[in-house]
Amino acid sequence: MPVSAGLRILTANEVVEQLRALRSRQPVKYTAFYSSQLGGIVTDPALMVIPFDDHMVHRGHGIFDTAGIVNGKIYDLEAHLDRFLKSAERSKLKLPTSREGLRDIIIKTTAASARRDGSIRYWLSSGPGSLDLMPVAGADPGFFVMIFPGLVYPEKFKTEGVRVMTTTYPIKPPLYAITKTTNYMPNVLMQMEAKEAGYDNGVFIDHDGHVGESSNMNVAFVSQDNVLVHPRFDHILSGCTSMRLLELARTLVPRGVIKDVKVDHVSMSDALAAKEMLLIGSSVKVAGIVQWDDHRIGNGKPGPVAAALLELLEADMRSGDRLIDVPY
Ligand SMILES: Cc1ncc(COP(=O)(O)O)c(C=O)c1O
Repeated sequence: MPVSAGLRILTANEVVEQLRALRSRQPVKYTAFYSSQLGGIVTDPALMVIPFDDHMVHRGHGIFDTAGIVNGKIYDLEAHLDRFLKSAERSKLKLPTSREGLRDIIIKTTAASARRDGSIRYWLSSGPGSLDLMPVAGADPGFFVMIFPGLVYPEKFKTEGVRVMTTTYPIKPPLYAITKTTNYMPNVLMQMEAKEAGYDNGVFIDHDGHVGESSNMNVAFVSQDNVLVHPRFDHILSGCTSMRLLELARTLVPRGVIKDVKVDHVSMSDALAAKEMLLIGSSVKVAGIVQWDDHRIGNGKPGPVAAALLELLEADMRSGDRLIDVPY
């Protein structure tokens, strides 16, 4: 609708129709949404809304996390809940219920969606009630859960590998980088900048010249002497996928695929000299990076460690011990 065409007071029915039309035009389909503010689950996408004066919307005072649904089970939810609770504490956000309560809502919303593969994203906010900087005293915290198909990356990420650039945007200060807040402005701008420059994504470098992370993924390296090296987690997000893979990767040592696993600062020059560079995250899983700025990484093709890690992760998602049943 042209912006000037709707300048009259709308009825509630007209608003719902307008929201429905808006949703039907968008590319991503949402199948279920829980809102503590609505007091339940909705499956009509038009009703998947939160008040504009929620503190998460107008001040960015909110946190979120995303877990995956794989073959009708939820993968590694406890790790994602651990990170969510840590983010809540650092952000001074109150929980509307216990950890068990949050888990139960997430599982029930997933069941209501009937989706057997996809993503669960959930948020915590300090609630609506004013446009002030301080959260409204006594406001109920908002908890929201959205079930959606998940982010999709081009097939060539797997077959040909990924091309990244050093972003010109500054990395977040450590406190904000380790907390999964809804403030993703630097991450969004980095991703847009990379696309505009013809790359797939960007990489943050910290003020000491150490490699940070990508927009919504971690990065890791395989050194020339075959050690899997991951940047330290004190200035970047603790990716649940990275944390899990750092454990699983130990099984690659006796198999001779890698020599060791290490978490340490990674300088730009060590990174560029790597045999392999990897992107790791819940959405991308594991992808080989083959180019960074105008440097070729390794032989310019996704390498064997990327393939071995992806295999370990997919096996863990299929039949590991971190799967939760969903009562569809
Ligand atoms: C900034 C950032 N780094 C890394 C990751 C990877 O985390 P995970 O493996 O939990 O998806 C994410 C995604 O949540 C992210 O947003």
